[in-house]
Amino acid sequence: MYQEIKKHIFYVGVNDRVTRKFEALWPLPYGVSYNSYLIADKKTALVDTVEAGFTETFLANIREILGDKPLDYLVINHMEPDHSASIAAVRRAYPDVQIVGNAKTVEMIKGFYGIDEKTLSIKDGDVLPLGAHELVFYITPMVHWPETMMSYCPQEKLLFSGDAFGCFGALDGGVVDTQLDCEIYWDEMYRYYANIVGKYGVPVQRALEKLKNVPIDMICSTHGPVWKEQVGKVGGIYNSLSRYEAEEGVTVVYGSMYGNTARMAEEIAAELSAQGIRRIAVHNVSVSEKSYILRDIFRYKGVVIGSPTYNLQLFPDVEAVVSALRNREIKSRIYGCFGSYTWTSRAVKELTAFGEQMQWEMPAEAVEMKQGFTETTAEQCRTLARAMAAALKK
Ligand SMILES: Cc1cc2nc3c(=O)[nH]c(=O)nc-3n(C[C@H](O)[C@H](O)[C@H](O)COP(=O)(O)O)c2cc1C
Ligand SMILES: [Fe+2]
Ligand SMILES: [Fe+2]
Repeated sequence: MYQEIKKHIFYVGVNDRVTRKFEALWPLPYGVSYNSYLIADKKTALVDTVEAGFTETFLANIREILGDKPLDYLVINHMEPDHSASIAAVRRAYPDVQIVGNAKTVEMIKGFYGIDEKTLSIKDGDVLPLGAHELVFYITPMVHWPETMMSYCPQEKLLFSGDAFGCFGALDGGVVDTQLDCEIYWDEMYRYYANIVGKYGVPVQRALEKLKNVPIDMICSTHGPVWKEQVGKVGGIYNSLSRYEAEEGVTVVYGSMYGNTARMAEEIAAELSAQGIRRIAVHNVSVSEKSYILRDIFRYKGVVIGSPTYNLQLFPDVEAVVSALRNREIKSRIYGCFGSYTWTSRAVKELTAFGEQMQWEMPAEAVEMKQGFTETTAEQCRTLARAMAAALKK
């Protein structure tokens, strides 16, 4: 199956509704698509490939369009195996195909797939003529691997952007945003960004800067819809996420074995609401997937984290969230923390040190509870929530 998205430019990607976790980490409740595009001009060029389990479907899509015609070029914008896994199969099906990438891509193709013949190493700004169309290459390192680049077709003002501007969610029937109900993709875009690209805000900003004067009518990324009607919105989301900008709202994350720390979380959330904060996402780390917690922390300016002391450490699943946040170097959040213990406290010290390390604003003192929940603890929780709400409204 394929779809012509512009005259002589075809969508030849596949839907994955089988894999439960992307990168073996991130849940896929709506699946994911691996997008690939074929330009059928005087010369033919395929842009990116698909994940390993889908190679045959993918090759069939290409054959449907090309028939007996040869494939001249395979452009590789990104080497993560969800896009590069079918390179060797494409070479077997089309032995004369020239594989096009930058110096880092070419090195990785040899390293992963042992291919070092008929490769064409391009530099930033190089142009590949195909006939009526051409492709111009923009090297955009670390979005989100070192070799990542984008390919631009000036004749159609069409950007093959790799993972940038992508999102989770398979394509239900249509391919272009104008054919789809896009409702689910916005949340899935926040989650995709927070999970996969989140660490690379600065390189994303650099890439956006590089593209700032490039007119774009369509964005063809490697995951999710082809953006046509929503180019502006999608660019805006990636721009603000990569600047770590956030909305007025709070993510409350906690771990709790027996409900004591949970009681504190509920008190804080209720008081945030009483203070007029509308967007509050409360996550129990033992139930919510980290994927969704990260999405909400990228979305909301306020973060409150709570943990019981567990064998003189943070509760393990809270530790995992903290470590994921540290890894993504999330900037400029307003932060509060709380914790519980029974004999020797550690959790609150750890969470306080974490906030300091992130250089997040801490408008209130951490709340520490020994054993059971009392009216004193409740009042301390409400004080924290009031300070958080005031800081958000400032
Ligand atoms: C396996 C385990 C290890 C714990 N380790 C500590 C500890 O090192 N120091 C401490 O003061 N309390 C420790 N506690 C006690 C808890 O921090 C305390 O009971 C707290 O109220 C639990 O919060 P929760 O009800 O939200 O699960 C431990 C509890 C358990 C079950
Ligand atoms: Fe990737
Ligand atoms: Fe990808």
